[in-house]
Amino acid sequence: MAITFDEQSRSIKLDAGTSSYVLQILPKGQVVHRYWGAAVSDFDLSALLESNSGESLGLDGENTLDENPDHMLAEYPGGGAGDFRVPAVTALAADGSSAVDLRYVSHEIQQGKPALAGLPAVYLNNDDEAETLAITLEDKYCGLRTVLYYTVFAGLNVITRHTVLSNVGVGARHDVPLQLNYAMSSCVEFSSSNYKMLGLYGAWARERQVEWLPLRHGTQSLQSRRGYSSHQMNPFTVLATPSADEVQGEVYGFNLVYSGSFLIEAEVDQKDTTRVVMGINPYDFAWKLEPGETFTTPEAVLVYSNAGMGEMSRTYHRLYTKNLCRGAWRDKRRPILINNWEATYFKFNADKLVNLAEQAASAGIEMLVMDDGWFGKRDGDNSGLGDWFVNEEKLGCSLAELVERVDDAGLKFGIWFEPEMVNPDSDLFRAHPDWALSIPSRPKTLGRHQLALDMSRKEVRDYLVERLTDILNSADISYVKWDCNRYLSEAFSATLPAERGREIWHRYMLGFYDVLERITSAFPKVLFESCASGGGRFDPAMLYYMPQTWTSDNTDAIDRLKIQYGTSFAYPIRTIGAHVSATPNHQTGRNAPFMTRGAVALQGTFGYELDLAKLDESEFDQIEDQIDLYQEYQKLIFGGDFYRLISPFEDSTQAAWMYVSPDKKSALVQVVMQHISGNHAPRRIRLQGLEPQSLYKIEELGVTLHGDSLMNLGFIIPESWGDHQSVCLTIKRKG
Ligand code: DGJ
Repeated sequence: MAITFDEQSRSIKLDAGTSSYVLQILPKGQVVHRYWGAAVSDFDLSALLESNSGESLGLDGENTLDENPDHMLAEYPGGGAGDFRVPAVTALAADGSSAVDLRYVSHEIQQGKPALAGLPAVYLNNDDEAETLAITLEDKYCGLRTVLYYTVFAGLNVITRHTVLSNVGVGARHDVPLQLNYAMSSCVEFSSSNYKMLGLYGAWARERQVEWLPLRHGTQSLQSRRGYSSHQMNPFTVLATPSADEVQGEVYGFNLVYSGSFLIEAEVDQKDTTRVVMGINPYDFAWKLEPGETFTTPEAVLVYSNAGMGEMSRTYHRLYTKNLCRGAWRDKRRPILINNWEATYFKFNADKLVNLAEQAASAGIEMLVMDDGWFGKRDGDNSGLGDWFVNEEKLGCSLAELVERVDDAGLKFGIWFEPEMVNPDSDLFRAHPDWALSIPSRPKTLGRHQLALDMSRKEVRDYLVERLTDILNSADISYVKWDCNRYLSEAFSATLPAERGREIWHRYMLGFYDVLERITSAFPKVLFESCASGGGRFDPAMLYYMPQTWTSDNTDAIDRLKIQYGTSFAYPIRTIGAHVSATPNHQTGRNAPFMTRGAVALQGTFGYELDLAKLDESEFDQIEDQIDLYQEYQKLIFGGDFYRLISPFEDSTQAAWMYVSPDKKSALVQVVMQHISGNHAPRRIRLQGLEPQSLYKIEELGVTLHGDSLMNLGFIIPESWGDHQSVCLTIKRKG
């Protein structure tokens, strides 16, 4: 890891792991992008990039293509000053003009990594883990100063980026405001367009489906305008060489540490270069900068791999495990929980929960989570949100008494909240109708019969912190599931002045993060899990506050193969909330075998979400086997390296994956049949991540062979009979 400035060529090279990123300061101060990829030795790469071919808009004094704003590969391009591609920044001046052309002022290289004001971000455990470049640019005509931050990490092909924008005034005038309309976190240029681009698209109960499309001329964008990072598109993309796959090829990952509306846009231009910008969605966004004010963008996490998608994912996993997730639970084994949602929905009382807890205890389950319906007037999803007072009448006792009874049964206790939301049918809304985001003169669009609270308002945040604190202090609560079940519409705050109205989208997020910080730091021993109608906010920002996320409301093991496969591209296995649920499955009606449901839930935090009383004896007994497997392999699954072996998107018959311990002494392979057919052609599986020269025994097959044979030739997956069976192979190194 090193960041080096070369005086002679005025280039800066960031060496991150086995990769390099190079930028250069041109004589007139433009900061241009030169390279990102496998490590290079040289600083001055300009001779390899300059081209005289082709004509385009010729601007006075900017004659070389390198200097022409219409062609320049820029580190942080402004709009309105001769660069016609998607900008990283645009700013509206008080006189109505809009042009930004940023020029170099200075740069600084420092040990460590600065925090991002009010925003979640990758952090360091020690200052010597990383080095940061801060490069200051300015447009003296509109008074916009921009500091671009780049951090490189020891031993990882990672660069994190964010930008701090400020209004420094024009000349002697320090009284003129600016309005930001684009303020992206990062811009990365590629001198080619020969890439395919990944989108993790989806819907409620069908999150993070994998879709690759070749880049084409013009713009292609992935985005959310929902005020959520969203089910429909994850704030993540990859540009990869056309033949790249799991094990080979160059891939470039982009992930935004943000839970609100985002934009990732790739533009292939007339010279076949590609620009990728990523950040807060400029749609309906504006931010006023009074003189002296600053705006900090969310963080972008860029990962390079020249060994395919698998290596890229493992890099994200390593970084997020140790430098993004925080708190006491970051490295700890998570308790095996049972959640009552699919067991009871809203129909429960304390006796029912205690019954469930007692049965769960006899099966070896460790925690009971009480889901939605314990507060206010809440027997369905149309009332009560906002009234965070225990409904003792419904429960039949106080919360402390219930927790005690669950504790007597031998289980820890967890609880569900949906703090950001309010039902119009609630005491909170009746008392404070203006606390909900809405436009007074317009009808309110409801989502699941509810409105979102205005998280930009301090009194709203204080109310939520006070209510949650009170509940969490009232009993011995070990776990919180933090839900959120609608997107934002009529995003209007009663308290923001008109010229700041469009700031609400981001101010909501800043307020939300403030509440998360206050609550999670006040209850450091509590395990928090985030949720947004399942996986509507599975993003790195949520992982900063809560080390696991409920992946999807779809608990069907076969659908989960795809959902968890896509999720694993960026997010560590230990962050993936996964439960064994009942059959016929409540989302699909499918009947997957109990052991397969367990195998798929093992690819995550592992728990149960079903009425144990309805299981037959053989299923109940299998819980013990599943828990034994979890106890034995949890360390390997959480702490090992994850390898995707067969994609459920590419093979309709099966999916397979494996975990390898860091010392490469043990591995676990899991295979699940998606569909079975008569006389099917045998499928070969090639393992990954083993030591080529070491001998490994596959216990279940009774085979002992070298890692290289198992990885290069592989073996035929053992036959399984019947729908959706699963195979689990345990592998041990000899010596
Ligand atoms: C949506 C969540 O994703 C579910 O798990 C459950 O908690 C419900 N909300 C409760 O309303």
